[in-house]
Amino acid sequence: MIIEPRTRGFICLTAHPVGCEQNVLNQIDYIKSKSKTDGPKKVLVIGASTGFGLASRIASAYKSYAATIGLFFEKPPKEGRTASPGWYNSAAFEKQAHKDGLYAKSINGDAFSNEVKAQTLQLIKDDLGQIDVLIYSLASPVRTHPDSGERFKSVLKPIGGTFTDNTVDFHTGEVKEISIEPSSGDDIKNTVAVMGGEDWKMWIDQLNAAGVLSKDFKTVAYSYIGPSLTEAVYRKGTIGAAKDDLEATAFKITDTLKNIGGKAYVSVNKALVTQASSAIPVIPLYISLLYKVMKEEGIHEGCIEQIERLFSERLNAANIPLDDAGRIRIDDWEMRDDVQAKVLELWKEAKTETLPQIGDLDGYKTDFFNLFGFEVAGVDYDKDANEMIDIPGLQA
Ligand code: NAI
Repeated sequence: MIIEPRTRGFICLTAHPVGCEQNVLNQIDYIKSKSKTDGPKKVLVIGASTGFGLASRIASAYKSYAATIGLFFEKPPKEGRTASPGWYNSAAFEKQAHKDGLYAKSINGDAFSNEVKAQTLQLIKDDLGQIDVLIYSLASPVRTHPDSGERFKSVLKPIGGTFTDNTVDFHTGEVKEISIEPSSGDDIKNTVAVMGGEDWKMWIDQLNAAGVLSKDFKTVAYSYIGPSLTEAVYRKGTIGAAKDDLEATAFKITDTLKNIGGKAYVSVNKALVTQASSAIPVIPLYISLLYKVMKEEGIHEGCIEQIERLFSERLNAANIPLDDAGRIRIDDWEMRDDVQAKVLELWKEAKTETLPQIGDLDGYKTDFFNLFGFEVAGVDYDKDANEMIDIPGLQA
């Protein structure tokens, strides 16, 4: 069928399998162009199908030839209805990995559930014996607690007061003021339950108890800090409370891994267009200004460049460089004083009329459509595409 983008707000309801495949192949080529490392050999990636998790899976496979198990929650295709992009990304990754002689299997299900944890554990036992790295890259709006059955919904709200500032509708380019009411009731607790560290620790506890974590095992989860501009709605908002919890959990996990000399890290990554970040108010305007500045400085990176640098210069270093709070910082270029000063200046001038010149709205839009396999260079969108793509190593 001919597949076109059908957007609704910050989501796109369709995905293009050939465009998604091309994106994955481009990321593989990028990693192949970089030096190989003596990195992990058996890796589990939770949230492996898009964004930072997909890049982590690709980097693991092609930097140190790791066997990868990828876990994600994606919508399969139906006749006449496309799958979600993470489905096509995973199909493309596995197809290429298998061609290249690499072990790659996937599980599509709810990572928060006991069933999926048990299934993953069994797969590790059967096929890999042990894993040496676990990447935790989940971004989800909801979580059903595996023990209590309680369903938590995360919210993106400021804490303590109404937040008012500009944002952009990246489809129309309209810059307009928005106000977001502060969190109330159980908003903070619920957001921490979804995006905090509890589930990450549950994974590690269960895998450690089963003896499937290798000696010197490492686990990494992803966090974000960002500038004062977005602070009220991000780092000091409900999602920031969840990130505080995630970061604190890294230390608790490290304590529990003493038996195997294992370590848990949080890596603070750069703001990028992903399905998760396009849902956060204000962030699209910030990102379009940030992209402009970082591209002009020649220091712009996408997920794959970020993760390549994380793996080669941080995770595999003999002494992993950490900030005062014990975190890995790969957002160092985003947070450079000169970069942030320029973004702040541009922010003051950002209006519907000025944004096309002072911001990289086109770059934002292209990245957004690329997430769904659209506007990818070299893909013929007038050609029929088969939406019924299988993931070769998908576990039943
Ligand atoms: P994303 O939306 O591209 O990826 C989310 C992944 O989680 C997908 O693979 C999806 O299938 C999976 N997933 C969601 N719910 C699931 C469930 N219940 N069970 C199994 N898999 C599930 O998100 P992105 O942006 O790559 O985020 C990953 C992490 O990186 C998050 O913790 C996010 O806060 C963090 N981060 C993101 C930044 C950004 O600018 N996008 C910046 C810094 C950190």
